[in-house]
Amino acid sequence: MSEGIRVADADEIEEGEALTVDAETAGTADDIAVFHSDNGNFYALNDTCTHEEASLADGWIEGDEVECPIHSARFCMRTGEALCLPALVNTRAHRVEVRDGEVWLYPNQAPQDA
Ligand code: FES
Repeated sequence: MSEGIRVADADEIEEGEALTVDAETAGTADDIAVFHSDNGNFYALNDTCTHEEASLADGWIEGDEVECPIHSARFCMRTGEALCLPALVNTRAHRVEVRDGEVWLYPNQAPQDA
């Protein structure tokens, strides 16, 4: 089980925004996008869209979904499920926690409510 990575203070990521943790830091094959949703929750997914090469961190966040900025596939940020075409392949969701005002990422661990 990997150690958590401190991503940022929670108030450093505006609602509706995301930042990326690079793959080398995360110890993963892909960069990881950490999202602060307009519902107040934080989520994390592999950053690269499963359709082509877009960064989901540049996408549009609404509730627990993110829409790819290139061809508008949507993914569930809780589970990584691909919700509509043109994405046919689910992505990976990672566990995120907010503790004492800090956002912590646990790469390759399943989100607790997934
Ligand atoms: S690159 Fe994301 S939907 Fe095409």
